Amino acid sequence: MKKKHMLLTLAVFAFLSVSLVAASGNHTVPIAPDEYLKMENPYGSDADEDVLKSAEKLYKRKCKKCHGSKGDGKGSSAADLEIKPNDLTEPGYLSSQKDGQLYWIILKGGSEEAEMEAFGPGTDANISEDDIWKLVTYIRTFEK
Ligand code: HEC
Repeated sequence: MKKKHMLLTLAVFAFLSVSLVAASGNHTVPIAPDEYLKMENPYGSDADEDVLKSAEKLYKRKCKKCHGSKGDGKGSSAADLEIKPNDLTEPGYLSSQKDGQLYWIILKGGSEEAEMEAFGPGTDANISEDDIWKLVTYIRTFEK
């Protein structure tokens, strides 16, 4: 009986520590399901100027206030966000992310705690899948 009690106490304690770590800002961006990770960006990494220009326009309207014009996460509303966007200019960060991962998060939004809403078709922003791929190509330029 006593042993059981102790185990329960330990379990509660472990649970509380995990919650504490989560609350202290140790946040990680959620990972897309496999079916998305396998997707390839139809625009690849060497899109022409027109594609990048139109994506930049869209980015300025819909994304810049949080992610910043250079993608460093220092947009005008970023200070109010509980969970901050990562610095996408960080060398090696974006290049370690699959196209499908970036596509998925723009399409479906971030984790529940984060204020990165879904932007895909049918949402308030209603950005087409094609335009989301263009955004993926565009944000990759932040790393360079
Ligand atoms: C209200 C602020 C806000 C807006 C507007 C916003 N984002 Fe985000 N974004 C975030 C936050 C916060 C995260 C982190 C999400 C998480 O960890 O769950 C994020 C995550 C991301 C990621 C994943 C980056 C990583 O670290 O792996 C990408 C890509 C992204 N956003 C692109 C965009 C694009 C493109 C737009 C515009 C269509 C946009 N975001 C609009 C706040 C925002």
